[in-house]
Amino acid sequence: MQKKRVFLTRTLHEFALKELKKKYQIEIHTGKIPIPRNVLERKIKNIDGLICFPYDKIDSELMDLGSNLKVISTYSVGFDHIDINHAKKKKIRVGFTPKVLTDATADLAFALMIDVVRRVSEGDRIIRSGKWRQIYGAYDYIGMDLQGKTLGILGFGRIGSTLARRAKAFDMKIIYHNRNRISKNKEKTLGVKYVSQNKLITQSDIISIHVPHTSETDQMFNKEIFKKMKDSAFLINTARGKIVNEKDLSLALEKKIISGAGLDVFEFEPISKNHPFMKIPNIVLAPHIGSSSKETREEMAKITVKNLNLGINRKKPIYSVGF
Ligand code: DGY
Repeated sequence: MQKKRVFLTRTLHEFALKELKKKYQIEIHTGKIPIPRNVLERKIKNIDGLICFPYDKIDSELMDLGSNLKVISTYSVGFDHIDINHAKKKKIRVGFTPKVLTDATADLAFALMIDVVRRVSEGDRIIRSGKWRQIYGAYDYIGMDLQGKTLGILGFGRIGSTLARRAKAFDMKIIYHNRNRISKNKEKTLGVKYVSQNKLITQSDIISIHVPHTSETDQMFNKEIFKKMKDSAFLINTARGKIVNEKDLSLALEKKIISGAGLDVFEFEPISKNHPFMKIPNIVLAPHIGSSSKETREEMAKITVKNLNLGINRKKPIYSVGF
């Protein structure tokens, strides 16, 4: 019997490829990243399973070309790049990789937070550019303590609540807003307080975004919101770039409407060297590395393969969206 065909829009760990090769005829895109649309359109026509990444736009037109396609397994927790409703209509299974990257992403949100409030990367840039002049003065390179400050967590799913645990250990006050309030018991255990979105915006010293990118959250952090934030406040985004209006954020930082930002995600990635963020000192930039620890990325690869194995046989992936 002919092996089923699987296409990967870029390579995965060796152990994952080895496992896939045992069962399927696999092909891996090795050219330009993200894979050019015309290449993906050609490849999808003949495959049973697709392994994709957050940069690959898997929309209805593309799915309609895949007449044998049974499963889309994305190597990510986010699935805003996939038209889930259309996949459901076409009975194409969609697998994703939640849970395993919760700690890594919460760690990175915390890292960006400490970095920007204590100006670590800014100091690094000053030293590397040979501009370190003042030393140890009363007003030199002054940052902000985390202890006693209010962290506002917007979106209180796995990553948001894990960040809360880290913040608690730093003696921060934690407020959160989420579509669904968690139980009072859980709030007590975590030491967090539920507030309205408006209160979170106006009362937080640091806001960390943990909501998905949807039509409701698109460009949600814009000039109106920045004006409502404290002028001493910081914004952290490890969720999706399109939730923040980058032009408005650049202006808010330049005009000191807010104090700083730490970003792991951007509207269009990678950002160009002419992007306005490049010239702003009070912003820490990370190249979308929320889940980039060795352990986490390996776990993600294992789940991506497991999801594919199930979906290709018309079974529900371990972590499944849609149906
Ligand atoms: C995801 O998995 O969606 C993350 O953005 C990757 O870091």
